Amino acid sequence: MGEVRELYARFDPVSYHRTYYAEVDAEMQFFLEQLHVIFAEGLPGCVGRHVLEVGCGPTITAVLSASRWSEHITMADFVPANREAVSAWLTEAEGHLDWTPHLRHVAALEGGGLTPGELAKRVRVKVEHVQPADVLSDQPLGETASNRYDVVVSSLCLEFASSDLDQYRRAVLAVSTLVKPGGYLIMQGALGNTFYQLDDVRFPSVSLTPGAVLEALTAADCSPVRLHEIPRLCPPSKMADHTGCFFVAARKMQKCDQ
Ligand SMILES: C[S@@+](CC[C@H](N)C(=O)[O-])C[C@H]1O[C@@H](n2cnc3c(N)ncnc32)[C@H](O)[C@@H]1O
Repeated sequence: MGEVRELYARFDPVSYHRTYYAEVDAEMQFFLEQLHVIFAEGLPGCVGRHVLEVGCGPTITAVLSASRWSEHITMADFVPANREAVSAWLTEAEGHLDWTPHLRHVAALEGGGLTPGELAKRVRVKVEHVQPADVLSDQPLGETASNRYDVVVSSLCLEFASSDLDQYRRAVLAVSTLVKPGGYLIMQGALGNTFYQLDDVRFPSVSLTPGAVLEALTAADCSPVRLHEIPRLCPPSKMADHTGCFFVAARKMQKCDQ
């Protein structure tokens, strides 16, 4: 098992939530707004409405807007404690993580009088599965999942799961195999980041440039249709050394024989 995967045995969902999700900071606003726009505009050419989020961690933030467009959502992560945290929120188990600020933010983006409670209910209806995934495997969800999803979303995962740029490219390629031809791979992440800190654990990251992200997508037969980047907007006290953030949506090309 790779070193980074071993380190993730020490990932604490409660600490992650407290450290990075206590509020909707400016960078989180950027991510939530990009996801809102892409799902509000719809995804041209998609036939089905199956969404996968891979590397969800203990969070539900990246599927809030997806739940407007999608009929079926699967969430997946490597760490059992993260999957348990998501499942606890879905089933409203006692002590589940509180996502009220994020629900409030996305409900306001959608407008039309949508309340945070109604949004939470919609997400709980649409998320059908929470399952294991390993983005460092050629088949991140196992053998049967290829080409199954209309949209695959991954937030702050692939650059954090990988040890170097080659492995990042392989992870992008592996995740792209889950997308149906003509479907979309949506990634949001950190630029220029080499680590983030969670209590006494320092989690590494591959330092990305927008060019490296685009190169990895192109090598995976995914054609970028939207790319936005922002400079770092959070204070130096945030315990990660990123210089900016990116959001990219790429369309998986149709194969000639399809
Ligand atoms: C920085 S956290 C991001 C969590 C969440 N997606 C977010 O946006 O806040 C990195 C996530 O990648 C997951 N991860 C790390 N290695 C992985 C792997 N090999 N396969 C799948 N997920 C992995 C971790 O469990 C963790 O949830």
